[in-house]
Amino acid sequence: MMKRLLHIFSLGLALISSCLAEQKGEFMEQTVIIFKPDAMQQGRVGAILQRFEEMHFHISGIKMVQLSEAILREHYAHLADKPFFGDIVEFMSSAPVVIMVLEGENVIEEVREMTGETDSRLAEKGTIRGDFGKDKGQNMIHASDSVVGARAEVLRFFEPAELFPLRHNLAD
Ligand code: TYD
Repeated sequence: MMKRLLHIFSLGLALISSCLAEQKGEFMEQTVIIFKPDAMQQGRVGAILQRFEEMHFHISGIKMVQLSEAILREHYAHLADKPFFGDIVEFMSSAPVVIMVLEGENVIEEVREMTGETDSRLAEKGTIRGDFGKDKGQNMIHASDSVVGARAEVLRFFEPAELFPLRHNLAD
């Protein structure tokens, strides 16, 4: 119990200090992308990543990992009361995924636009889900949906040593 409280407290501290650094203009906005098991299985990682690189977003962290049910239950906690909660946790933990932190000006909103609607069948052509996704569950990628959400996701999925952020206004 004490260990969990300490963990929550240190996450909170890290969240506040990184938000302050961003406000001071030291760090660029970051977002978390997860290439879901369908993107991995269908060989779409390269095609999707190319779209982000063409937008000149900076990759500040990238790794391949098999996510545990515990971390996915935390990640999708906002959907815990939905009937598909078990399915999404099972799907996302079924195979290794590639997970990445991208940074750039307005990266969260721009990547969400590039990603398209949750339901791939309704997503516009030209968006990642519209071009490659199958349905609501198999929709290729996760992308953070807010500044606070992205911060929590960076801290949830990455150790500081795994990140190589661009720093701004520090050298000049
Ligand atoms: P959500 O956060 O609502 O969507 P998004 O990924 O667009 O931010 O949902 C998270 C994931 O849960 C979604 O990518 C796929 C899955 N999901 C379903 O399987 N069925 C559904 O009806 C919804 C809304 C989501």
